[in-house]
Amino acid sequence: MGIHFDKDSGIFHLRANNTSYIMKVTPQGDIVHLYWGRSLRQADPGHLWYPSLRAFSPSSHPGHDDLSYNTMPMEYPFYGNGDFRLPAFEVDRPDGSCIVRPVYFSHDISRGKPLLYGLPATYVEAESEAETLVIRLFDPLCSLEVSLVYTAYEAYDVITRSVVFHNKGKTPIMLGRAMSMNVDFRHCAFKMVHLCGSWARERDIEGHRLVPGIQSIESRRGASSHQHNPFFALMADNAGEEHGEVYGVSLVYSGNFLGLTEVDEFGGARVSMGINPFGFSWELGKDASFQTPEAVLVFSGSGLGSMSRQFHSLYRKRLCKGEFRDRPRPVLINNWEATYFDFNMDRLLEIARQAKDLGVELFCLDDGWFGHRNDDNCCLGDWYEDRSKLPDGLSGLARKVLDLGMEFGLWMEPEMVSKNSDLYREHPDWCLHVPGRQQTESRNQLVLDLSRDEVCDWIVHVIADVLSSAPITYVKWDMNRNMTEVFSVAYPAHRQGEIFHRYILGLYRILDELNDRFPHILFEGCAGGGGRFDPGMLYYMPQIWTSDNTDAISRLQIQYGTSLVYPPITMGAHLSDVPNHQILRTTPLVTRLNTAMSANLGLELDLSKQEQGEKTIVREQIRRYKDMRPLIQFGDFYRLLSPFEGNHVSWIFVSEDKQDAALFYWIILAEPHGPQAYVRLKGLDTDLDYRLVDYDAFLVALGYDEVYPGDMLMHAGLRVPPLIGDFQSCLLRFSAE
Ligand code: DGJ
Repeated sequence: MGIHFDKDSGIFHLRANNTSYIMKVTPQGDIVHLYWGRSLRQADPGHLWYPSLRAFSPSSHPGHDDLSYNTMPMEYPFYGNGDFRLPAFEVDRPDGSCIVRPVYFSHDISRGKPLLYGLPATYVEAESEAETLVIRLFDPLCSLEVSLVYTAYEAYDVITRSVVFHNKGKTPIMLGRAMSMNVDFRHCAFKMVHLCGSWARERDIEGHRLVPGIQSIESRRGASSHQHNPFFALMADNAGEEHGEVYGVSLVYSGNFLGLTEVDEFGGARVSMGINPFGFSWELGKDASFQTPEAVLVFSGSGLGSMSRQFHSLYRKRLCKGEFRDRPRPVLINNWEATYFDFNMDRLLEIARQAKDLGVELFCLDDGWFGHRNDDNCCLGDWYEDRSKLPDGLSGLARKVLDLGMEFGLWMEPEMVSKNSDLYREHPDWCLHVPGRQQTESRNQLVLDLSRDEVCDWIVHVIADVLSSAPITYVKWDMNRNMTEVFSVAYPAHRQGEIFHRYILGLYRILDELNDRFPHILFEGCAGGGGRFDPGMLYYMPQIWTSDNTDAISRLQIQYGTSLVYPPITMGAHLSDVPNHQILRTTPLVTRLNTAMSANLGLELDLSKQEQGEKTIVREQIRRYKDMRPLIQFGDFYRLLSPFEGNHVSWIFVSEDKQDAALFYWIILAEPHGPQAYVRLKGLDTDLDYRLVDYDAFLVALGYDEVYPGDMLMHAGLRVPPLIGDFQSCLLRFSAE
């Protein structure tokens, strides 16, 4: 492992676990991309790239007609000198020109991984875990230094990338595009797989073959969004869940992003990801720097599943941070679907009491506890408790919850303001808006202008006051609208293109400060469900409310799609009532539990309406969940059957030491007189024997053995117990003998 530079050939060879990433600095000072994939013993530059003459390709270097930017595989391409594909960055100079041509002048290789300026990123705990390469390029005409930053992890097939722009001159430079990564593949025989959707239908898996032209995913909403996730994978033609080459790219960012592939005239594929250039520009003043968000590149030589497990492990261990990273997450109850805005202290305490009796560990008070908020028309920004609902205040309620033997958590939506609020009346200019133009409301609210320091300082101050006012150990941080009229009255005209990004930087600063001041609070992110489920938020909030849709069958797709990048410990999943409040579907209790138990289990229903028999089942399943919680939250996750492909859905959790496993299986619609189903398990040790943990009279009657050889479970498969009726499911646990 490590990063090597060969002076004679100009080759940079980055090795990350079983991956090689190879570039070359040419004698002319260009950085060309040569290879990314399975580890190579050595790099032969002449073999990996051989320049050739092509018609209509401008000669970029006098005397070298075969060297044209139009055909060169560029590591970080620029515009205006013959490369007609999309550039990775663009500048606007005061003289009106936007041509740039930086050349190599130095590089450094060091141990470890530096932090990014004001941005979340993956990290190391010891310098020996990774090496970092910084390649510096310089454009003398603009006095612009462009530093390409790469980190190769030793234990993961992961290369991270970021770019730093530094204006070394006296004249300001406008950056108009600043992507975090670019890779020029020499072929385009890939399927582009990505996650798309909508509110209540987040992260559907979508895939299509690359074709000539540009294919992109993006957000222009001010948040990473329900509609597209800042991730895509390129799957080689023969690749599947368990085999073939897969290249995953994930952006550690929570705002507008763009991920694209451009298939060129010669069948090459340019791939890039970064801040969305739409609506973006950044003034780089004298001696100022700008750093892009981090892109995380994962290579898998054995399919999509292995790519996901690389992301899971890296994001769980080296992106999430703080004391909750390695701590089992509490089983919680949230009152939202039980009461909505209609509650008082007695009703909340009754819910908490009943939940405690079932084994729930934390009570979270959702929306409606502040100002005089009885619906979503008012009071965002007025973060003081409503004494008509909570006569003893938050602290009085929290203490009573603690007396029951539970922890106390609170919902907040600090980035927003209602027009009908004291905050808006006092500071009408604190929201994003264009003076004189109608303000577009969404859910009756406006977005605070987090590009302004004083607004961010106010949020930190006010939220810190609330969090200090009561024994709060969990916060659900919500964000319920996308951005419109993105304009800040605090910035001049030529800096308005910075506001989208400055908002996100402001948000990250707020979260950094709150993380520092409240290390014992577990933050859960939320944006109308999973509208900002991205690696940037995970850095500050190690779990995220996956979707407002709590229907157990919809959730199979949502959680399965989310698992392409994000580990189950990052997903909030709640048992809710039937008919389901979002889609009105009625599903069996056990199925609702099995879906919610496949991530961070929570409850979100009025327990007083549940029958005694149902409560007994819930109590028993919570006990079972707690018993296998380390496996679910810290084990490896293998997808077995996809809800996007058939009527049967299955996944399995296997502990790192392969001693424990939990298999979940669902049949969505009843299959009258269907075939006997078998499911092949994954991740087990073929040499071990596995005992069925809950081996009972029922399984005996069905003819199940108590112990199965691992190889039989993996290769021949396990006979699936009969599941009769719609929306049925089962959970089977295995323990190595
Ligand atoms: C949207 C969230 O996703 C819900 O769970 C709930 O907290 C509401 N907001 C409250 O307004």
